[in-house]
Amino acid sequence: MRIVSGIQPTGNLHLGNYLGAIRNWVRMQDEHEAGACLYFLADLHALSQPHDPAQLAASTLEMVAALVACGIDPDRSVLFNQAQVPAHAELQWLLNGTARMGWLNRMTQFKDKSGKNREGASIALFTYPVLQAADVLLYQATHVPVGDDQKQHLELARDIAQKFNVDFVPGYGEEDSDVKGVFTLPDPIIPPEAARIMSLRDGAAKMSKSDPSDMSRINLVDDADEIMKKVKKAKTDPEPLPSEAAGLEGRPEAANLVGIYAAMAGQSVDQVLAEFGGHGFGKFKPALGELLAETLSPINARFVELKQDREMLGAILAKGALKARELARPTLDAAYKALGLVRG
Ligand code: TYM
Repeated sequence: MRIVSGIQPTGNLHLGNYLGAIRNWVRMQDEHEAGACLYFLADLHALSQPHDPAQLAASTLEMVAALVACGIDPDRSVLFNQAQVPAHAELQWLLNGTARMGWLNRMTQFKDKSGKNREGASIALFTYPVLQAADVLLYQATHVPVGDDQKQHLELARDIAQKFNVDFVPGYGEEDSDVKGVFTLPDPIIPPEAARIMSLRDGAAKMSKSDPSDMSRINLVDDADEIMKKVKKAKTDPEPLPSEAAGLEGRPEAANLVGIYAAMAGQSVDQVLAEFGGHGFGKFKPALGELLAETLSPINARFVELKQDREMLGAILAKGALKARELARPTLDAAYKALGLVRG
């Protein structure tokens, strides 16, 4: 088993990142032998949008502190940033020959992020999913823990791996052939209870770092007062909570808050509604705010402490990169060779 996943080091970690991905990263790290999990900061992906270089450097170290505060152990997981492992960018170029324009044209993230300014979007934003495919294929990832918004990118990674293997590995996929491909086809691991955490201000938009309103998200660095304020101001409807999950249909804001409670408490939505059904948000919101503050405050305290020690954070990335470079080499070499590229 090889578990690989990444996060962009732009802005703070928020509750969507935590429940959709990072909590699973920690769980998988704790369930598998040391070295099975590779987690990285997708700093190369951050170049796809306008960015401030000084800010990116600072956010990269802060994200290391945030991940360690959440429970990622750099002695058990390989924790690194893409920029220190050139094989990511190299493999992306090799895969650009296999990825099809039509496949990338279908990517909803490009459509969402480029919006009406398609002509002005960077090439990096368009080819972003090919770099993401390189990120996981480079390490023969079998499992990729992500939120639901990354599912389409993972499907693309599988398509690229499959086409590359078929096109460049003689005998691959033929009847009765046990020839192995250069790349393993990875499976996404998406938590059913927290696949898509929505904005606190709009039940139709996902919770996101790029939302201009800070009131739309709970950041892992928010203190108990800020969390309570955001939960109390979260958009809801005037109806009391239903007593069963089916009653949340057509009530996206209520469904989101109940879903967050369930994911945080490790309960099912029905269990949460058995307790709060029939009551208004006046009772539910303070309970949710307290539950969030209770779980997040130890993470917050560790983060504040860790982020002071920039030398230690840099050393974690350097050590992770050393290991990642070593793990990446055999697959990168195999890809060059399969393509007929001569390298001395
Ligand atoms: P990023 O940085 O946007 O988010 C990191 C992880 O958090 C999940 N996530 C959410 N899950 C549930 N609800 C939400 N509202 C929510 N918002 C974010 C994301 O699904 C993701 O798992 N392209 C990726 C980074 C990346 C990557 C990779 C991931 C680059 N290469 C290879 C996996 C494998 C991204 O921008 O995630």
